Amino acid sequence: MDPIEILMNEHGLIRSYLDNLNKAVVKLENGEKPPRAFFEKAVAFSREFADKFHHFKEEHLMFVRLAAKKRGAVDAQIDALRYQHERGRELVTQIEGSLAGYGEYRPVAPNDSPEGKARNRRVDIVILDPDIALMEPVCDISALENPK
Ligand SMILES: [Fe+2]
Repeated sequence: MDPIEILMNEHGLIRSYLDNLNKAVVKLENGEKPPRAFFEKAVAFSREFADKFHHFKEEHLMFVRLAAKKRGAVDAQIDALRYQHERGRELVTQIEGSLAGYGEYRPVAPNDSPEGKARNRRVDIVILDPDIALMEPVCDISALENPK
């Protein structure tokens, strides 16, 4: 399997993660409460797999080699992908911040019983930028390899 094929397979895993995250957002918008553990796992997946494993290879290996190979022809696309990666990291940090604070500081039930504590262990997501849904969530390496 060549490196591009490996990265494309990793995109499939990241796509599934983003699809699941979108499903959780729809549930939240409909008043349902996805389990806190789902968001904890989503944050861990994003940090450990998407960033440390996948984006690291793209940002520190592929983008550098591709920029040199294409001599500036794909710099704008690479900058856009770097921006998407950074924006994704910011959003994950926001989700993580919500996990850390909402149950204790914005209780929806008295925190003096196991049932109340269970209700307070939740995630509230506020969508501040609806245009983020229009962004391409994962990069298309083939477009970089064959710029128009
Ligand atoms: Fe990627």
